[in-house]
Amino acid sequence: MNNLHDIIFIKRKDENMDIKVINDVKSQECDILIVNMFEGKQTSNDIANEYALNQDKFDGKFNTTYLLPTYGKFPARKILVIGLGKEEDITKNKIREAVAKSVKKAVEMKAKTIAIDFSGINFDYADIVSEGAMIADYAFDKYKTEKKHHVETLYTNLDKARIEKGQKRAEAMELTRNLANEPAQYATPDRLAEVAKSLGLDTKIYDRKECEKMGLNAYLAVARGSIHEPKFIHMKYSPKNPTKKIAIIGKGLCFDSGGMDLKPASSMLTMRDDMSGAACVLGVMSKLKELNPNVEVHGIIAACENMIGPDAYKPGDILTAKNGKTIEIDNTDAEGRVTLADALCYACELDIDEVIDVATLTGACMVALGSHASGIMGNNKDLVNNLINSANESGENFWELPMFEEYFDSLKSEIADMKNTGSRWGGASAAGLFLKQFVKKDIKWAHIDIAGTAFLEKPQKEFIAGSTGAGVRTLLNYITK
Ligand code: BES
Ligand code: MG
Ligand code: ZN
Repeated sequence: MNNLHDIIFIKRKDENMDIKVINDVKSQECDILIVNMFEGKQTSNDIANEYALNQDKFDGKFNTTYLLPTYGKFPARKILVIGLGKEEDITKNKIREAVAKSVKKAVEMKAKTIAIDFSGINFDYADIVSEGAMIADYAFDKYKTEKKHHVETLYTNLDKARIEKGQKRAEAMELTRNLANEPAQYATPDRLAEVAKSLGLDTKIYDRKECEKMGLNAYLAVARGSIHEPKFIHMKYSPKNPTKKIAIIGKGLCFDSGGMDLKPASSMLTMRDDMSGAACVLGVMSKLKELNPNVEVHGIIAACENMIGPDAYKPGDILTAKNGKTIEIDNTDAEGRVTLADALCYACELDIDEVIDVATLTGACMVALGSHASGIMGNNKDLVNNLINSANESGENFWELPMFEEYFDSLKSEIADMKNTGSRWGGASAAGLFLKQFVKKDIKWAHIDIAGTAFLEKPQKEFIAGSTGAGVRTLLNYITK
């Protein structure tokens, strides 16, 4: 069982929305033709202008819609007018959101075939259209006997190469979202390792014994409470003459019960999402061979579960990470940073220029930024700023959190080099400073805290509740541009 779609899949590739590039979308027979309207302006479609604009005074405010049946008088059975707001205020993010809103409407109306006829927008934005459509058509219905409706075919007259670029990003996100939405009973460390091996990259999986030999004792301590064996995953994508070499590390806690410092039931409920960083790394790695960037990329995941059990690690234990630094366990629920400590040490021993970790690391980051932005910190201004820009271009929000050395004060220990937790206040920054202890000084490092953004309680913008694939678009953009 080594084909990706056999291991994990909900929708097989051939069940995904088929996007067909054609010249004449207006004459295409379909269930719904989607046309855009800028506030107060005419659309490219005479019928829409007559009914929506002239008769019903539809004003084209951003993300509002107007539906028009055509009673067999037009190749499309219905026309959906989507408001894009003021023409001068249009952005890529608005287009993505509007496309997503239209596709969601089409799904609600059980449309099988749709066509998008957008006019007056920059045609460079074609990738945003395919990306937005696919994100909106996503459903996690593997466990439903009755499957959710999805759009089978989308017709567009936009640039094929750009459409395909957007499709690839959305497919990467789909893998990430599927993995993070899967229950922990299914998305085990072993399963993540299987998925990694299926990606056709140069991949090595280290088991417990091999990790012991490498000195990954902090990571292994976290894994001890679980029946599931830890799997340390290292994937490598290497082009011929890379311009630089980077590592991306994903927090891979397949379930976080909190360990001996057990979480209350309400906080534990969604902790299958604690491998969203790992899922993000797998999503990104899954598309590199197709996108073919000139950057060497190492994808690293220290996969395990944080459970209670007779051998579970305990508060007060002292662990030695791969770089020799000792950690006093103050709280077993701050486990992600303990696993990442060893993963960062491992990455820093590779021949790399940069390391970026992505992690559902702290509730504190979620308190600070909610579900609308991921936190970012690092030891290099340029890397952090470049990632923030890549996020802005991709439709994600990253917000820099401070890394003042003072945040380390509360992590000082009497008996070890540091504790894994300290003060509640400034918890996201303290976690960042903890991680920094395991990064070699000459390697550029950024840490992305996706605790609030990776998994939604309720629908938001183009996303349904559940996994959002946070970090995937940004990292793909960062790596490929
Ligand atoms: N996985 C959690 C962080 C988290 C919280 C992710 C909410 C997604 C949503 C992490 O392992 C954790 O439990 N952190 C603790 C740290 C605390 C004990 C210092 C937290 O944030 O409460
Ligand atoms: Mg925890
Ligand atoms: Zn966790």
